Amino acid sequence: MSKKQLAHHRPKWKTHIGFVLATVGSAIGLGNIWRFSYLCYKNGGGAFLFPYLIALFVVGIPLIILEIGLGHKMRGSAPASFASVSKKWEWLGWWQITFVMFGIVLYYSVIIAWCLNYFFFAFDLSWGATPDKFFTETFLISTGSPFQIGNIRTIILFSLAIIWFLNWFIVFKGVQNGLERASKIFMPILFLLTATIILWGLRLEGAMEGVAVYLKPDFSQITNIKVWMDAFSQIFFTLSLGFGIMIAYASYLPKKTQIVRDSLIITGINCLFSLLAGVGVFAVLGYMAHSSSLPISEVVTESIGLAFVAFPKAISLLPAFSNIFGILFFGSLVIAGLSSSISIIEAFTSGIVDKFHYSRKMVVSALCIVGFLGSIIFTTQAGINWLDIVDHFLTQYGLILGAIFECLAIGWFFKVNKLRGHINHYSGWKAPIFWNFCIKVISPLILVAILISSLTEEFSHNYGGYSPVAIILIGRDWLIYTLFAALVIAFHPWRLDPRKRMLVHEHDQKKKY
Ligand code: TRP
Repeated sequence: MSKKQLAHHRPKWKTHIGFVLATVGSAIGLGNIWRFSYLCYKNGGGAFLFPYLIALFVVGIPLIILEIGLGHKMRGSAPASFASVSKKWEWLGWWQITFVMFGIVLYYSVIIAWCLNYFFFAFDLSWGATPDKFFTETFLISTGSPFQIGNIRTIILFSLAIIWFLNWFIVFKGVQNGLERASKIFMPILFLLTATIILWGLRLEGAMEGVAVYLKPDFSQITNIKVWMDAFSQIFFTLSLGFGIMIAYASYLPKKTQIVRDSLIITGINCLFSLLAGVGVFAVLGYMAHSSSLPISEVVTESIGLAFVAFPKAISLLPAFSNIFGILFFGSLVIAGLSSSISIIEAFTSGIVDKFHYSRKMVVSALCIVGFLGSIIFTTQAGINWLDIVDHFLTQYGLILGAIFECLAIGWFFKVNKLRGHINHYSGWKAPIFWNFCIKVISPLILVAILISSLTEEFSHNYGGYSPVAIILIGRDWLIYTLFAALVIAFHPWRLDPRKRMLVHEHDQKKKY
C-alpha cells in the first residue's frame, strides 16, 4: 500500500448532528441517571450546583475543548494524536483507551446486562415484595467476597452476550451506518423515555416533596472538600474525559467545525439531562417515601442500590401500570449505557487501525470477543465485589492520572497556544487566552489536589472494607497491567509515521475545501 492509501481510511460523520448526538450518547450514561441526583442530594441539594458548575467551567469545558481540538487537529485516535504531539507521549493515548476498554467497559457492560435482565423482570415485577433480597440472593447470589468466585450466573451471561452482540453490531457497521445511525435512533428514544418518566413521576403523590429535598440548597456544605471532589470527579466521568473517546470522535469531523460551540452544546445537553433525570428520580423516591410513610433519607441510595433496589421497590408500589414504568426505566438505562459503551469500542478500534492498519471489521470483531470474555468475571457470584473494586480504582485514579498527564502533555510539551489557534480558526465563539491558563495550571493543580485527597483517604482505611490483598491484586494491579500493555503497544513501530499520516490527511482535506 502507498502512504496515501494507508492514510486514506479515516471515516467521516455524515452529518454534524450525527456527531453531536454520538458524543452526547457517549457522555450520557448510567452515571447521569443514577449518580448525579444522589450526589446533589448528598452534597447540599441545589447548592451542589455551585461546585458542579465551577468544575464544569474550569475543568470540564476546557478539557472537552482540548480533546475535541486535539483529535480534530491531528486527525487521529488518542494514541495517534498524542504521538503526533510527541512520540514520547504516545503511551498516554494507549493507556487511556486501554484501561477504559479493558477495565471500565468490562464491568459497565455487565451493569447494562443487569438492566436488560431487569427490563424483562419488569414485565411481571419478578422482584416481588423484597427487591433487596431478590437482587443479592436470587439474582446475583452474591458470595460477598471477591475471592469466593462461585459460579457464573447464566442468566447474566446470557444478557451480557446480547449486549456485546449489540456493541459489536453497531461498531462493526462503521461510523456512519453504525455509530451515527444508532445515536440518531437511541438519543431521541432516550429523551422521550426520560421525559415520560419525569412527567409520570411528577404526577405521583409526594413527588414534590422528593424534588424539594433533591434541590433544596444547603450552603453550609460548600466548604467541605469532599463536596468539591465529588463535583470534579462527576464532571470527568460524565463527560467521558480522559477516555480518549472525544479525541477519536473529533477526528472524523470536517475541517470547518465550530469546536468551541460544539463543546458547549455537548456539555450543556449532558448536564441538563443529569439535572432533569434527577427530578424524575427524586419524584419517584418522594412518592415511595410518601406511600410507605418513611422519611426521604430512608429511601435514598445511589447507583446500584438506586436502580436495582430502591426503584424496583417504588415501581411495585405504583398504583397503576407499574410494569410499564419499570420497562421504561430499565429500557432507558440500557439505551443510555449502550450508547456509552459503543464509544470506547470505537475509540480503541480507531487507535489500532491508525497504528497497525488492520481491517476495521476484524479489529472490532476481535475486540468484542475479548471484551465479552473479559466481562465474564463480573458475571460470577463475586462479580459485584470485583466491579466495586475495579470501578473505584479505574475511575478514582486511572481517569484522574490520565487527565493530569493530558494537561501536562498539551500544556507544557506542546504549544498550547498553537492548539488554541487551530480551535479558534473556524470557531465563531473563540476560546479565550484564559483557556491556556486552565490547561496549563488550573486543571492540573485541581486534579493533583483530588488525587492527593483520594490517596490520603485510601491509606487511612481499606476501600469498602475489602482485604488489602483484594485491593492490591484486583484494583491497583488492573491499572498497572493496562499501563504495561499500553507501553508495549506504544513501543511497537508505526506502519506510517503518525505525523506523515496527519500531513497526508491535511493535504487531502485542503483539496476538498
Ligand atoms: N459518561 C458515561 C456515564 O456518565 C460513562 C461512559 C462514557 C463510559 N463512555 C464510556 C463508560 C465508555 C464505559 C465505557 O455513565
